[in-house]
Amino acid sequence: MFTIPIEESVKTGISKENKSEVITVASGKGGVGKTLFSINLAIESALAGKKTLILDGDLGLANVHIMTGIYPDFDLMDVINNKKTIQEVIIEGPAGIHVIPGASGIFQLSTLSHQKRQLLINELNKLEKDYDVIIIDAEAGINHNVLKFVSIADRTIIVTTPDLTALSDAYATIKVIKTRKSTENIGVVVNRARSVNEAELVFKKINMATDKFLNMKIISYGMILEDAITVKESIQLRKPIAVNYPRTKVGSSLKNVAYNVFKMEQKKVVEPNVIFNRFSVLLENIRTKEAVS
Ligand SMILES: Nc1ncnc2c1ncn2[C@@H]1O[C@H](COP(=O)(O)OP(=O)(O)OP(=O)(O)O)[C@@H](O)[C@H]1O
Ligand SMILES: [Mg+2]
Repeated sequence: MFTIPIEESVKTGISKENKSEVITVASGKGGVGKTLFSINLAIESALAGKKTLILDGDLGLANVHIMTGIYPDFDLMDVINNKKTIQEVIIEGPAGIHVIPGASGIFQLSTLSHQKRQLLINELNKLEKDYDVIIIDAEAGINHNVLKFVSIADRTIIVTTPDLTALSDAYATIKVIKTRKSTENIGVVVNRARSVNEAELVFKKINMATDKFLNMKIISYGMILEDAITVKESIQLRKPIAVNYPRTKVGSSLKNVAYNVFKMEQKKVVEPNVIFNRFSVLLENIRTKEAVS
């Protein structure tokens, strides 16, 4: 949810009803699967009939375009430099998602001034009426860019892996977000889990810490299974999992997470057991089907 100044909302006719839902995907540690998750969440959203946009918010080290197999001529750098409007850099990706590509290797983007950051947000505001869902794939850790993307989001999803370092960085990130009062609507996805139990344990640890030290409950959106072969192939061939490998371990678990994200009532705290039990059943069904076929 972008904050549109009243005069502007009158001018543009954007009302609360036709605002898109903005989901920012962030993490503590880098390389935990934010981009993989964001792209596939966007595709699942599009496949469910929602008009969906993904913004490569990893300003400076962008790679959404690589993982979606698109070859953009223009990117966010052109928007920041006032050479293009945000609409002009949007490019269509797999399953009809729209992509705003980021620029890679440009220091200027990773250290945006307050004015440039605001310019970007103002440009994003213009897209509110055009999309049902806007997903922002943020960079790892917490800096001003990430905090801005969190503060304009309706929901923030923190991706972690079961690694202790990733887990503790996820907690630290939530702590900074909470301390900065950017949002309280935070959920977690456990990526690269080897089992439902492992993911459940990871979520419980983070939730216990946020509950005890931050007096805050977080939402569990579930887990994505470790599947190195499929993920490697999908990235190398630039073919997203949700389109090209939907029935693999990682594909079906990604779909489950997307289901949780879009069907679950917002702000409702779901006990991890409820979700993970549902996963257990779904995974069991998948295993049974695989065993039978
Ligand atoms: N479920 C998975 N199973 C196996 N490997 C995975 C899985 N998810 C991610 N990976 C591996 O982790 C790598 C990093 O994924 P990705 O680029 O999505 O992470 P990221 O959090 O966006 O990284 P960064 O912080 O650099 O932006 C992938 O290239 C892939 O090798
Ligand atoms: Mg990334």
